[in-house]
Amino acid sequence: MSKSSPQISNATDDKTTVELKGVCRGYGEEWSREEVISDFNLTITPGELTVMVGPSGCGKSTLVNLVAGFDFPESGEILINGTPVTGPGHDRMVVFQETALMPWLTSYQNVVFGPKLRGDLKGEELEAEANAILDKVGLSEFKDKYPLQLSGGMQRRAELARAMINKPLLMIMDEPFRGLDAMSRELMQEFFVRLFEENRRTNLFVTSEIEEAIFLADRLVVLSNRPTSVRQIIDIKLPRPRDFHMLGSTEAYEYKREAMELLHEEALKSFKRTGDQNDFLDAFSKRAE
Ligand SMILES: Nc1ncnc2c1ncn2[C@@H]1O[C@H](COP(=O)(O)OP(=O)(O)O)[C@@H](O)[C@H]1O
Ligand SMILES: [Mg+2]
Repeated sequence: MSKSSPQISNATDDKTTVELKGVCRGYGEEWSREEVISDFNLTITPGELTVMVGPSGCGKSTLVNLVAGFDFPESGEILINGTPVTGPGHDRMVVFQETALMPWLTSYQNVVFGPKLRGDLKGEELEAEANAILDKVGLSEFKDKYPLQLSGGMQRRAELARAMINKPLLMIMDEPFRGLDAMSRELMQEFFVRLFEENRRTNLFVTSEIEEAIFLADRLVVLSNRPTSVRQIIDIKLPRPRDFHMLGSTEAYEYKREAMELLHEEALKSFKRTGDQNDFLDAFSKRAE
């Protein structure tokens, strides 16, 4: 494991465990109540990349918000290293699909914003750390540019840098590469997987793309139809470091087939129940070919 930058190497000692126990969350008044998450149980293991896959609308962002502490379960609990989540904290950093960069700040200023505000890193130390991280994400030459002067891929990398400088116990990624064109998305996936392999920071990555999920994951959590719970966990044993050729292997194909079958079954359940067109079918029928 590389330790090229001493400032960000402590993540290699990552021992973060996240437990979701019987988590339930729904919305609406009693008469129009919709259960979104139901009896959700999962343990996210230290130093692993756990990927949740499910179609749009199934409750992935709802789960992300619960783990991040932006929202709370109605029943059940979420524990980080045994301590219940009681609100947001910089031990958990979320990277969303929508950019959260502040447009009036440069890449560098965006990266140092959090630590500066909290005062936990200062002066030269903060400067050195920010420069090391910007270098790591390949943005050294763009550190004085504003978000609107960056490409979509660069913006996502600036987001990553902004999250990484906080050395979170858990990185939470909510469909972070959605909306990028196909080429940039692949590049970002490759870039991100390298970063993960170097740091092994415990990571919860959420996506609706099966191939992205298989490419990145140590553990693939296939979600059930709404109300969402864990349908199945598939251990992805493709070797690391990963590269895109591996997606053409027999093992990768088997993983994909297994995940697609599960998601398709879930889609059919919902289709039978509602008799209506469903997100699941939209999202996955194209990919079943
Ligand atoms: N604050 C909220 N109030 C009411 N319904 C919500 C709220 N947040 C999410 N939902 C509902 O929960 C379901 C899951 O949404 P979400 O978690 O955003 O799905 P995903 O991220 O998988 O696309 C959707 O049906 C959505 O309408
Ligand atoms: Mg979402």
